[in-house]
Amino acid sequence: MFDMDNPAGKVAVVTGGASGIGKAAARLLAGRGMRVVIADIEQEALEQAAAEIGATAIPTDVSSEQSVQALADEVQRRFGGVHFYFSNAGVASTARIEDMTTSDWQWIFDVNVFGVIHGIRAFLPLLRANEEGGHFAVTASIAGHHVTPMLGGYTVSKFAVMALAETLAAELAGTGDKIGLTILCPGPVSTQLGASQRNRPGALAAGGMVDSNLEATEEGAKLRWIDPDSVAAILLRAIKRGDLYAFTHPEMAPLVLERNRQVEAALNAPIE
Ligand SMILES: NC(=O)c1ccc[n+]([C@@H]2O[C@H](COP(=O)([O-])OP(=O)(O)OC[C@H]3O[C@@H](n4cnc5c(N)ncnc54)[C@H](O)[C@@H]3O)[C@@H](O)[C@H]2O)c1
Repeated sequence: MFDMDNPAGKVAVVTGGASGIGKAAARLLAGRGMRVVIADIEQEALEQAAAEIGATAIPTDVSSEQSVQALADEVQRRFGGVHFYFSNAGVASTARIEDMTTSDWQWIFDVNVFGVIHGIRAFLPLLRANEEGGHFAVTASIAGHHVTPMLGGYTVSKFAVMALAETLAAELAGTGDKIGLTILCPGPVSTQLGASQRNRPGALAAGGMVDSNLEATEEGAKLRWIDPDSVAAILLRAIKRGDLYAFTHPEMAPLVLERNRQVEAALNAPIE
C-alpha cells in the first residue's frame, strides 16, 4: 500500500478540489509535501485554490468520462504516475422524490455516481501500475447510511456510492494489488454544498430540485457543523490506519443503527 506516513514527493489528485472538503484535503496533502493536482469544474475557484495551496489545477468535469480520462492522461504525462486519487466532487440539492425530474436524477447521478465510476476506470490502472502502491479514497456521506426526506436524490446517489466503493474494496482484497481504499462518510460540514446548483449544466432541463442552505435552517442549526479541515484530518488518519470507513460524526450513529435494527427485526420476523 502507498505509505501515507511518508507522502513527500508523491502525487495526489483531488476532485472537487476548488472548495470545501476537497480543497481542505488538497491543502493538507500539499502541506505534507505531496505534489497535488486539483480537478474541478469551477475554473476561477480552481485557479484561486491552486495558487493558494501550491497545487496544479486541471479543469475537469467528473460527470464526463472523456474529461476524467483526459485528467488521468495529463497527470500521467506531467507527473509520470499517481499515488493517491480522491474522488470527492459532488453536488446536493433538495426536493421531494415525487417533484424530482429526470434531469434532476441525471445531474445528481452523473456527478455523484458516474463521477466516481469514471475515476475508478481512469485511475485504478494508474494506481495499480504504481510500484510504490496506490490509494483510492471516495467521499460518500452519512447520507449513504440513512435517509432524510427532501434529500432523496442525494441520498440515493450516496447509497450507490457506498455500494460501489464497498464492492470495489471487496474485489481489491486478496488480488495482490497494492491499492488501499477509504470511504469518507462525513456528517454536516460547512462548505458550499448547499449552493450546488451553481454547477448544474445549463444544457440540462430545469428541474424540481433547489439549493438549500441547511446550516441556516432551524433543523440544520441543531446539527454539529464542522469545518472541512477537520474532515481532511479525519480522512488522513483513516488512510494511515488502513480503515475502510472514515466517519466524522459519532453522535449520528443511532440514526444508522436504528435502520439496521429495523432491518434485523424484519429479517428475523416469522415468515408466516
Ligand atoms: N458538506 C457536507 O455537509 C457534506 C457531507 C457529506 C458528504 N459531503 C460530500 O463531500 C463532497 C465535497 O463537497 P463539499 O461539501 O466540499 O461541497 P463544495 O460545493 O464546497 O465542494 C464541491 C466541489 O465539487 C465541484 N464540482 C461540482 N460538480 C463538479 C463536476 N461535475 N466536476 C468536477 N467538480 C465538480 C464544485 O465546483 C466544488 O468545488 C461531495 O461529494 C459531498 O457530497 C459533503
